Amino acid sequence: MRHGCLLCLLPLLLSLISSPAHGVRLHGLGVNYGTLGNNLPTPAQSVRLIRSLNAGYVKIYDANATILSALAGTGLRVSIMVPNQIIPSIANNQSAADAWIRTNLLPFRRTTRIRYLLVGNEILSDYSIKDSTWLALVPAIENLHRSLKSCSIHNIKVGTTLAMDALSVSFPPSNGTFRPDIAESVIRPLLTFLRKTRSYYFVDAYPYFPWSADPNNVSLDYALFQAGPSSYYKDPVSKLVYTNLFDQMLDSVIAAMGKLWFYDVKLAVAETGWPNGGDLDQIGANVYNAAVYNRNLARRMAGNPGTPARPRVNMPVFVFSLYNENQKPGPGTERHWGMYYPNKKPVYQVDLSGKRPLESYPPLPSPNNNSPYKGPIWCVFAGGKNVNQTELNGAVQYACGQGNGTCNAIQPRGKCYKPNSLAVHASWAFNLYWQQFRKSGATCYFNGLAAQTAKDPSYGSCRFPSSLN
Ligand SMILES: *[C@@H]1O[C@H](CO)[C@@H](O)[C@H](O)[C@H]1NC(C)=O
Ligand SMILES: *[C@@H]1O[C@H](CO)[C@@H](O)[C@H](O)[C@H]1NC(C)=O
Ligand SMILES: *[C@@H]1O[C@H](CO)[C@@H](O)[C@H](O)[C@H]1NC(C)=O
Ligand SMILES: *[C@@H]1O[C@H](CO)[C@@H](O)[C@H](O)[C@H]1NC(C)=O
Ligand SMILES: *[C@@H]1O[C@H](CO)[C@@H](O)[C@H](O)[C@H]1NC(C)=O
Ligand SMILES: *[C@@H]1O[C@H](CO)[C@@H](O)[C@H](O)[C@H]1NC(C)=O
Repeated sequence: MRHGCLLCLLPLLLSLISSPAHGVRLHGLGVNYGTLGNNLPTPAQSVRLIRSLNAGYVKIYDANATILSALAGTGLRVSIMVPNQIIPSIANNQSAADAWIRTNLLPFRRTTRIRYLLVGNEILSDYSIKDSTWLALVPAIENLHRSLKSCSIHNIKVGTTLAMDALSVSFPPSNGTFRPDIAESVIRPLLTFLRKTRSYYFVDAYPYFPWSADPNNVSLDYALFQAGPSSYYKDPVSKLVYTNLFDQMLDSVIAAMGKLWFYDVKLAVAETGWPNGGDLDQIGANVYNAAVYNRNLARRMAGNPGTPARPRVNMPVFVFSLYNENQKPGPGTERHWGMYYPNKKPVYQVDLSGKRPLESYPPLPSPNNNSPYKGPIWCVFAGGKNVNQTELNGAVQYACGQGNGTCNAIQPRGKCYKPNSLAVHASWAFNLYWQQFRKSGATCYFNGLAAQTAKDPSYGSCRFPSSLN
């Protein structure tokens, strides 16, 4: 046998020796390492925390050099991401794709096990970049794949992450269907690429959202992978039986792919998880449910079950997320997905290898918001020591400019003008703004300046309307 051939065969032999027994998973779940916080531990400390979760993979939302260096030599498989904004330029220009790979990937490749390159984050959910970016997605993916090939890199899968809203129908799961505005123009070419390169369709799938939107019809046990009489659904068409909402959601994606005749494209779960906290009016976001969800997920995935439509097919799964990130906009849940607090204390214990028996975990705090909050809620100035008065004033001006007579009461001679302090006026403006717009999706946040409260902020003749008015 000639030397050259031996070199080719060696990796094959090694992979045969080390390939796992059928249906057994070698590595723990992945962790999404998001960095939208101003109080987070360093990358080196973060890597230690990721390892103490027994994670097998880590996914980041860029190609941050400090983080990639901190991951060197850890053996963790790494997913990096091309930011949404540069997709159009990479789609139009092979040199730009080559340059991105050269700058962001090649310097780390020898020591950090980069295995996935995700091009953009949920771009098909962002209608503001519809015209600029959607049609550029697959050309950008193809250019980056070509760059990798020209560097003889063959062990990095290229793809993109898509939220569940890429589907217009997801129930029953056998009826899963891609949105008509993207099915032919973006999804079909994407699936063609994924099939050709044996890459994955990366889906962000959160049972929390369908459950919390309809907790009367969807059982919490079913959403949390808990056994029970309500954790049962039989699809009337496929006749497949579901014991959890996660599988049901994933199979709706598989059915949607099948409708376009792509029955064989592999699935990976780029994000899943459960919030450990949230706003008063957000149901079921608590430490208990978050711990149960992620522990059950890890335990289940350790047996490599696949889904009812694709039993025992290997599927990478990444939990969102490593930290509670205090700078994520939106409702309170957005800032509470973490397995760790920013001070490195665990929110709850979880072993992402799934080996730890569930009974061996210490008791959890009882959940207190598993049914809808029924009392009145107000939205007020959140207070705090280091509030930037310029920013606070800007937020108040913004709120006052929205809706009908939002700030009449805090004008001179208005009922809430006195005490004439920015803090009091801010509470009035935030509350009036939120009460007018919350039904159309406005959140009580204002960059951390506002928070919900169950305590009536009214005083004297200044009466604050509540969510029940
Ligand atoms: C990389 O990550 C570190 C730690 O989160 C951060 O301090 C730094 O600003 C990031 N670098 C870039 C270019 O985003
Ligand atoms: C293509 O990308 C390269 C590298 O980033 C850049 O130098 C060049 O100007 C770009 N060409 C066009 C036509 O945008
Ligand atoms: C499947 O979805 C289509 C489109 O929404 C709908 O018309 C049809 O009734 C659904 N089929 C079943 C079995 O629910
Ligand atoms: C949800 O449940 C309510 C009451 O049980 C029922 O009226 C409604 O039709 C159900 N909605 C769906 C989408 O199943
Ligand atoms: C306060 O916020 C304004 C507007 O964002 C900014 O220009 C200013 O530098 C901030 N001041 C401090 C002390 O951070
Ligand atoms: C403001 O008043 C107009 C006219 O009465 C009404 O159509 C609109 O919905 C109101 N806007 C809000 C935010 O309440």
